Amino acid sequence: MKRPDLQRPPQVCVVPGDDAAPEVVRPTAELLQRLVPEIRFTEAICGREAQAQYGEAFPAQTKAAIDAADCTLFGASGGPSRPILWYLRWGKQTYSNIRPVRWLPGYSSPMRNPERIDYVIVRDNLEGMYPPREGDISELSALTSSASWWLPVPTDKQGAYAIKVSTDEQMRRVAVTACELAVQRREAGYPGRVTLGAKYSIQPRTDGRFRTIVRDAVSEYPELSYQEFLVDDMARRIVAVPETLDVVVLNNEHGDILADAASGTIGGLGLCPSACYGADYAYFEPVHGSAPDLAGKNSINPTAMLLTGTMMLEYFGYDEQANLLARAIQEVYSQGEVLTSDQGGQASTSDFFAEVRKQLFAIA
Ligand code: NAD
Ligand code: IPM
Ligand code: MN
Repeated sequence: MKRPDLQRPPQVCVVPGDDAAPEVVRPTAELLQRLVPEIRFTEAICGREAQAQYGEAFPAQTKAAIDAADCTLFGASGGPSRPILWYLRWGKQTYSNIRPVRWLPGYSSPMRNPERIDYVIVRDNLEGMYPPREGDISELSALTSSASWWLPVPTDKQGAYAIKVSTDEQMRRVAVTACELAVQRREAGYPGRVTLGAKYSIQPRTDGRFRTIVRDAVSEYPELSYQEFLVDDMARRIVAVPETLDVVVLNNEHGDILADAASGTIGGLGLCPSACYGADYAYFEPVHGSAPDLAGKNSINPTAMLLTGTMMLEYFGYDEQANLLARAIQEVYSQGEVLTSDQGGQASTSDFFAEVRKQLFAIA
């Protein structure tokens, strides 16, 4: 996805995030800087580091740095930096989340014939069960629609509820993003097929409405084909018949869950990039979280973060450099000599970065 009206040269705010995330973010930013020297990178902190320095997890300085930039390159929130994640999503209205799922030779996939896995998840990034809106069930009896529910809420008992909200505007723009992406991919030789996964059987008012909106959007693109599945069956399809998928459109919580499941089919979370786009802002973070179990061990796989970097370069129109970086990563995997432990290798995070740099500047 491209940004039409960017500052030249573009400005990127780098936010390393929590736990093991900084170990992949900072070297990725350095590598991108070397690849495209004109990009202006600034670093802003959040979470524990910011708490120590400014007395708050999301200081005004960091918000200002995010606002001044064309996009943010983010690691992951392990909890302390969650307020920044909220700002990058709802504050900046980054409404669609694109998560490509593509196996490359050398990835340690548990699947037979993993070369058939090459599709993209388009996830609603703003609504559904997010942002968290929860409360006490005793509050629900006040809702007028509760009279038509299949079962009344047991408001005489102690408990909690969570709200799922889907607006037509948001569902429509996510649907259109999926269609536009399918058209773009079709031009590159993919089938041009949008697949919806949703629970329209059980939630006709929310997921059913999403189904109608996605169907309507796809019908405006005669070159595209369409299929839809209940999301539980969609989960099976991701494992059993991934070759039938091209662009998969999902609501927020389903997209969150299935993106991690999909990563498992190609070889794990260390391999899956992601990008969140709005009308006038984008932020780039891998699918994975802050991997607290790997923090400080120099063993986290940087591939997801580096591929996320290629998505950022494409956003700015640096397609040639994005390609060079993607090819360098592919080369490291086809050689298979410098791989991190999640891929069955013994290389450290810094060994992997060094190898990508070696390949990159050898190719370049
Ligand atoms: P996680 O993605 O951090 O880790 C899950 C498993 O995958 C762990 O075993 C981890 O070691 C492994 N893993 C993840 N990334 C890897 C990589 N690049 N290389 C090798 N192995 C990798 O998910 P989790 O453990 O469920 O969550 C940890 C924290 O991250 C939680 O606080 C969660 O909320 C947060 N999180 C944040 C984001 C985000 O900021 N967008 C996304 C997901 C999870
Ligand atoms: C993701 C994460 C986030 C989500 C968390 C950290 C709020 O799992 O980006 O995939 O649930 O969206
Ligand atoms: Mn997730």
